[in-house]
Amino acid sequence: MDIQEKIKAIEKQIEAALQEIKSSKSLLELKMRFLGKTGEISALMKNMRDVPPEQRPNMGKILNALRQWTEEKFDNLEKSLKQLELKKRYAEEKIDVTVPGHRLPGGAFHPNTLIKNELVSVFAGMGFEIFEGPEIENDYYNFTALNTPADHPARDMQDTFYLTENLLLRTQTSAGQIRVMENKKPPIKILSPGVVYRSDDDATHSPMFSQMEGLVVDKGITLCDLKGMLDEFAKKIFGENVKTRLRPSYFPFTEPSVEVDVSCFECGGKGCRLCKGTGWIEILGAGMVNRRVLEGCGVDPDEYTGFAFGMGIERIAMLKYGINNMKLLFEGDVRFLKQFKD
Ligand code: DAH
Repeated sequence: MDIQEKIKAIEKQIEAALQEIKSSKSLLELKMRFLGKTGEISALMKNMRDVPPEQRPNMGKILNALRQWTEEKFDNLEKSLKQLELKKRYAEEKIDVTVPGHRLPGGAFHPNTLIKNELVSVFAGMGFEIFEGPEIENDYYNFTALNTPADHPARDMQDTFYLTENLLLRTQTSAGQIRVMENKKPPIKILSPGVVYRSDDDATHSPMFSQMEGLVVDKGITLCDLKGMLDEFAKKIFGENVKTRLRPSYFPFTEPSVEVDVSCFECGGKGCRLCKGTGWIEILGAGMVNRRVLEGCGVDPDEYTGFAFGMGIERIAMLKYGINNMKLLFEGDVRFLKQFKD
């Protein structure tokens, strides 16, 4: 076969093969078959060695023309295939930014956490610092240093879980008062939130619950300072029109001791179910720090005085949200909890 015929045959072959090509990947394979190092056109070029010298320039021209023609064919098809493929990819990967997203179900803060955060922010606004004491306490911090020695009848006010003769699960965050006073000179203004434990279990008591303790010690602190602070606190937590009143009470670590009521924020003081017809709701215990407690911590009670207060967080949450059974706060039932989503 003479060379012209051979070239015609190759051209035909290429055109037929290109017809079949559907992707740039198979096009590349085909390209290797003709234009690759071991491809058919390269094979023809190699044969130039056997061509008589006088025919070589002409033959070179012919073969170069073939090579160029083939390259162009492949390049053109490659361009249009690439364009098609890109178009297809764009269509497939198109994102409709107007489609509404999937909303993930969000959680809600536990009512205890909501109240705790609210209390912390009110007291932080008055300049209180946070102190968190240990949940496993020794007898000294939980009782003795709080003017409640072993034979003191007030120990029976709280049913205690003992771990050893000396170690116990703290029954009150008041234990933190001692830890703070032992380590810091007045002026002291701390807030101590945390869980406490008592062997007690009914609709309004749980063996584990949360308290928030406050302690202020400085020169010249009086019961009036306590009352003023409580008024401010009650307004912020229960509403602008709420008043407070102090009733005499007893705690071993305060003298005098008081129980603090707020006027009923539900009925405004007229009497309703929430306040059991009295117009008042008890919210916390407080008092002037007993001088024996100050002395025991190395604070001179003739120079410094202070007040302390302690409240149950669950109790405040139940009052504020109208929850009638404390168990709801510990069961973790999502149907209950999600009602507190803002
Ligand atoms: N610790 C007391 C209790 O758990 C509450 C309490 C009363 C705390 C009077 C105080 C306080 O700081 O002054 O019942």
